[in-house]
Amino acid sequence: MADCRAPVAVFDSGLGGISVLRELVRTLPMENYLYFGDSLHAPYGTKTPEEVTQLSLQAAQKLLSQGAKALVVACNTATSAAIRTLRKTYPTLAIVGTEPAIKPAAERHPGGRILMLATAMTVQEEKFQRLKAQYDEQAQIIPIACSGLMEYVEQGILRGPEVEGYLLDKLEPYLKVPIDAVVLGCTHYPFLRGAIRRIVGRRPEIIDGSFGIARQLQRRLEEQQLLNPGPEAGCVSFQNSLDEPEMLELMQALFSYEDETP
Ligand code: DGL
Repeated sequence: MADCRAPVAVFDSGLGGISVLRELVRTLPMENYLYFGDSLHAPYGTKTPEEVTQLSLQAAQKLLSQGAKALVVACNTATSAAIRTLRKTYPTLAIVGTEPAIKPAAERHPGGRILMLATAMTVQEEKFQRLKAQYDEQAQIIPIACSGLMEYVEQGILRGPEVEGYLLDKLEPYLKVPIDAVVLGCTHYPFLRGAIRRIVGRRPEIIDGSFGIARQLQRRLEEQQLLNPGPEAGCVSFQNSLDEPEMLELMQALFSYEDETP
């Protein structure tokens, strides 16, 4: 039987973090992973920062009690306060957070016009505002709060008239002037890449932050000498606060979902 001990715990307010999990498995296939989606409390974007901190602490406790050796908070909406509290509570634990991939977007498109899609909370948060201020000279960064968009992914709706109508309404006003890149600042949105591509056309690069998160996790595990040497591939297991079989099926389906377009 596979030994699934000491997993890397990956946590999100719901199913979006599975887009990050897929990149982690590609980059570090020898690790065991335990994914927890807090779909019962999703979306986090409409909660107060204090509630998000509390829910993040609860999730971390649950995952650490199962022997997790590191924690990836695959949720941009987990505020800086939530991450700070987690780091304070677990000072020796490798904790990797998430932020919209503004840096690679601005570096790859200097002087470019970049749309950044995220939840309203992420857009307002100091973490993002600081990041934006850092790159404002290099590129025109246009944040777009997409309240209600992650809910489509939570229901397994990744394409079709409803979600594409939503995206058209949101993005059309910005498409009159050509755009160079679209940053997916919520971990749910990579599952909507095909739908977003159909709205923005072929030109802009669509960028998400999961590769950077995977590299960061690799560095942290290396530093703490916690990398799993292999040679066997690790195991991946799923848990959800909505303890329903349909939810676990949807998580599996998203994990093996093949992106529609490059
Ligand atoms: N996947 C979360 C993120 O990256 C969704 C946030 C929410 O629950 O509102 O922000």
